[in-house]
Amino acid sequence: MALLEIIKYPDKFLKHTATPVAEINDEILQLIEDMAETMYDEPGVGLAATQVGRDERLFVYNISDNMEKCEYDVLINPEIISHEGVKVIEKEGCLSVPDYKANVKRFASVTVSGLNLKGESVRIEVQDMMAAVFQHEIDHLNGILFIEHISALKRDMYKRRIKKKLRKKAKKK
Ligand code: NI
Repeated sequence: MALLEIIKYPDKFLKHTATPVAEINDEILQLIEDMAETMYDEPGVGLAATQVGRDERLFVYNISDNMEKCEYDVLINPEIISHEGVKVIEKEGCLSVPDYKANVKRFASVTVSGLNLKGESVRIEVQDMMAAVFQHEIDHLNGILFIEHISALKRDMYKRRIKKKLRKKAKKK
């Protein structure tokens, strides 16, 4: 097991569109284990492969109410096949978008198809918070960050704040 480095905005790789996994081999299983460990270390409720600089179309997510316990599941080649309703998720955040939270409009419930760890086809229906996690992680695999779902004004404010921070950092060097 190893902790992976999480890519942060404005790294361009976060815009990368992930490639479907063709075969669940040892390398993929190792990646999944490492991603789960990294997610619990942060801690976060979900982590997409794109966030650790990988091209595989998969994400891990927490399935326990207790964040202390490392209980996770994975969805490989996930795809939203249907959705219902709308819900505003308050203070959504992302490990790749430091120091920022915003309200984001999401589908209230989604049905997602994909493969499990054994490579079996699964179809999962999730609601509310979990539905938001699934949509957030699938967005990552399509190169989309949650700040693209907020108003342009708010997004620009965040971008300016990050640029300022990076400039300060560069000056110190
Ligand atoms: Ni995220």
